[in-house]
Amino acid sequence: DWTMGAYREEAVARIREQVGDAKVICALSGGVDSSVAAALIHEAVGDQLTCVFVDHGLLRLNEADEVVAMFRDHMNLHVIHAQEQELFLGALEGVSDPETKRKTIGRLFIDVFQKYADQIDGARFLAQGTLYPDVIESVSFSGGPSVTIKSHHNVGGLPEKMGLKLVEPLRELFKDEVRALGRELGLPAHFIGRHPFPGPGLAIRCPGEITRDKLEILRKADAIYIDQIRKHGLYDEIWQAFAAILPMRTVGVMGDGRTYDYALALRAVTSVDGMTADYYPFSHDFLGETATRIINEVKGVNRVFYDCTSKPPGTIELE
Ligand code: XMP
Repeated sequence: DWTMGAYREEAVARIREQVGDAKVICALSGGVDSSVAAALIHEAVGDQLTCVFVDHGLLRLNEADEVVAMFRDHMNLHVIHAQEQELFLGALEGVSDPETKRKTIGRLFIDVFQKYADQIDGARFLAQGTLYPDVIESVSFSGGPSVTIKSHHNVGGLPEKMGLKLVEPLRELFKDEVRALGRELGLPAHFIGRHPFPGPGLAIRCPGEITRDKLEILRKADAIYIDQIRKHGLYDEIWQAFAAILPMRTVGVMGDGRTYDYALALRAVTSVDGMTADYYPFSHDFLGETATRIINEVKGVNRVFYDCTSKPPGTIELE
C-alpha cells in the first residue's frame, strides 16, 4: 500500500545513508522542483544543508523576498540570499541576442553559485531537483531536446568542476508526484501550484535590450495580469502565464495628451509537459478588463497585445 507519507520516510532514510554527516549545498531557484528537493533533504540532514538563492535581478515582483522568507522563516532552512543583481544586469547591458543573453546568465550563475558554495566549508554534495522525465530525457526544463532550440540554464557540469557528488532525491518522481510530496512536506499550496518560471527569468520576456525601466514595468504588469487570472479562478487551468515587454513604443492618447509608450504582450498556455502548448482562450471581457487595468495602473505602457500563438510554431517564452 503505497502512500506519499511512506515514500517520504524511505527517501529521507536513503538521503541520510548517502550523505552521512557531510555537508550539502543546493541552488534554490524558487521553483517547485528545487524547493521540494531542498525541503526533503532538510528533513533528512537538517543543518548540514545550505541553500544558495541567486538573485540575478530578473525575478518577478517581490519574488526573492517571498522565497527567502518562506524557506528561512517558515521552513527553517539555512538560505544564503546572493544579491547579485548588479553583476547580472551589468553584464546584460547592451545585449539583445537571445542566445547571448542565455549564455551570459548561465555562465554568471555558475560563477556566482561557485563563489558562495566555496564559502561553505567541506561541502561534498550538490542537491538537484532532477525529475524522472529529466532522467529519461523525454521532457526536460533544464536540458533535453529543446536545448537545440534554446540553450537552457542549469548547473550542468558544475558538480564535476567542483568535485561534488549529486544528491537527486526526486529522480523517480513525475511532476504531479513532486507536488504531492511538497504538500506532504508542508510547503504551502499556493507555492506548490505555481506556474513554471525559467532560469533566465524576465530576461527572456524582454526581447531586445534589457533595461531597469523595462524590468520595472514588466514586474508591475505581470503582477496585475496574474492577479486578474487568480481573481477569475483561472490560474490552475493554465500551465503558464506571463507578461512580456516588447521592444517598441507606440502612440496612444490619454486624457488630453498623446503618449508614446511601451507595448506589452500577454501570454497564457495550456500544456502537459511544456513541449507542446496551446494558447489559452480567454474571454474578450477578461482580456479587455486586464488590458485596461494594466494601462491604467502601470506608467509607461499604453498598449497590450494577447499572444495567440501555440507551440509549435511558437515557443512558450518569447526568446
Ligand atoms: P519554451 O519557451 O522553450 O519553454 O517553449 C518550455 C518550458 O521551459 C521553460 N524554460 C526554461 N526553464 N531554464 C528553465 O529552467 C530555461 O532556460 C528555460 N527556458 C524555457 C519555459 O518557461 C517553459 O515552461
